Amino acid sequence: MKSPKVLAFANQKGGAGKSTGSAHAADWFSQKGASVVLVDADGQQSSSAWLQELGLPYKIISDPETLFESLPKLAKEYDVVVVDGPGSLSEVTKAILARCDLVLVPSRESIIDLRSTGKILQFIRHAKELRKGSPKAAIFLNAVSKGSVLLREAQDALGDSLVPLLETVVYDRQCIKDAPGQGSTVFHMRGKPAKDAAANYESLFNEALKFFNDK
Ligand SMILES: Nc1ncnc2c1ncn2[C@@H]1O[C@H](COP(=O)(O)OP(=O)(O)OP(=O)(O)O)[C@@H](O)[C@H]1O
Ligand SMILES: [Mg+2]
Repeated sequence: MKSPKVLAFANQKGGAGKSTGSAHAADWFSQKGASVVLVDADGQQSSSAWLQELGLPYKIISDPETLFESLPKLAKEYDVVVVDGPGSLSEVTKAILARCDLVLVPSRESIIDLRSTGKILQFIRHAKELRKGSPKAAIFLNAVSKGSVLLREAQDALGDSLVPLLETVVYDRQCIKDAPGQGSTVFHMRGKPAKDAAANYESLFNEALKFFNDK
């Protein structure tokens, strides 16, 4: 299966899970043997400190023009470029959407969070219009509590044929929260909860890859 050269995590909503998803995706691809760089496009630079501890290469680029120019160059240097997007809708987000091949939109399951994804979806639709269908885009639910009654209809209403909702949801797990503090990811952490979380991310990324490769 082909991997996207540039994989972005985007959602203007703070705390949706962009940095967590990015760091785990970068580590996952790296463990599969790919050369990976993470681009921290968030002014807060939360994922870069984490990547440094993980020992993975990263770049901090939060200027839209520099991002626009750098992403294709990095894509030539590395197998996969993972972009951690900012918690805002800005020129930075537009530059990322202009240059990525696949964008994943994490969303928390609350109705407020689900509704606010509408804005990023609009940006994504516009990028797709300009780029004749690129980037491929999908939403995933993040930090879902185990006992929650997921309103499948509400979820389905959220995704559309242009930006569908992935089947895999990432559960709310303490070990995921603990990962940055340990300078690690659930792929390296010990214990059953970390194993389960690792399997959860593995399913998510495999589904995303499959979706990316689908016609
Ligand atoms: N699946 C999960 N289970 C438990 N905690 C999670 C999960 N995903 C994210 N978190 C926690 O939620 C918080 C926000 O996540 P994260 O920093 O990845 O969001 P973000 O979208 O990058 O936010 P920002 O817009 O502020 O950059 C963090 O404390 C993170 O550890
Ligand atoms: Mg972040």
